[in-house]
Amino acid sequence: MAGAMHDDVEEILFTPEQIQARVAELGQQIAADYAGREPHLVTIVKGSIPFIADLMRAMDITLSLDLIGVASYGAGTTSSGEVRLTKDLDDSIEGRHVLVVEDIIDTGLTLAYVLRNLRQRAPASVRVVTFLDKPSGRGTAIEADYVGFTIPDAFVIGYGLDWNQRYRNLPYVGILKRDVYAGPL
Ligand code: PRP
Repeated sequence: MAGAMHDDVEEILFTPEQIQARVAELGQQIAADYAGREPHLVTIVKGSIPFIADLMRAMDITLSLDLIGVASYGAGTTSSGEVRLTKDLDDSIEGRHVLVVEDIIDTGLTLAYVLRNLRQRAPASVRVVTFLDKPSGRGTAIEADYVGFTIPDAFVIGYGLDWNQRYRNLPYVGILKRDVYAGPL
């Protein structure tokens, strides 16, 4: 049904134009900070796919890319706290300047797990860029080095972010209507 996906959106938080402008800025800033060093971008799939695709093209320096997959046990709209690896990196990160690329930091549990895991592999350095930061959800003292947008305590979808694996292809970031995930009031 045409348009049905958009009908589930309560409000648009960031338009495609706002996203492109911010990601371009981020890419330039990160590229400048890594002058003389070659960053190795470790992307946490699947939510970060649109972000990494845009971010890396906004970084006009030599870089490399790898993917890592993690999942939290359990379902629903909140994390259970237990995280496991679902897809490991292809390449060694020993001695490399790793930049972890996330779509959103909510509780911080996913990122904490990934950072613990990566630091055991002796990288030269590790930094983090997240497209969205939701500080209200944080259960652990963890921050990104680079943040695209800080968002309020809402269930956001689009530009990679899903609910039940849907809405990742929305070109904007929006708030999901409550009755979609919680049923009618
Ligand atoms: C989402 C998102 C982050 C994580 C953030 O991943 O992509 O990785 O949750 O939440 P946290 O800070 O509370 O841990 P999800 O497990 O939904 O997988 P996905 O990337 O495949 O959507």
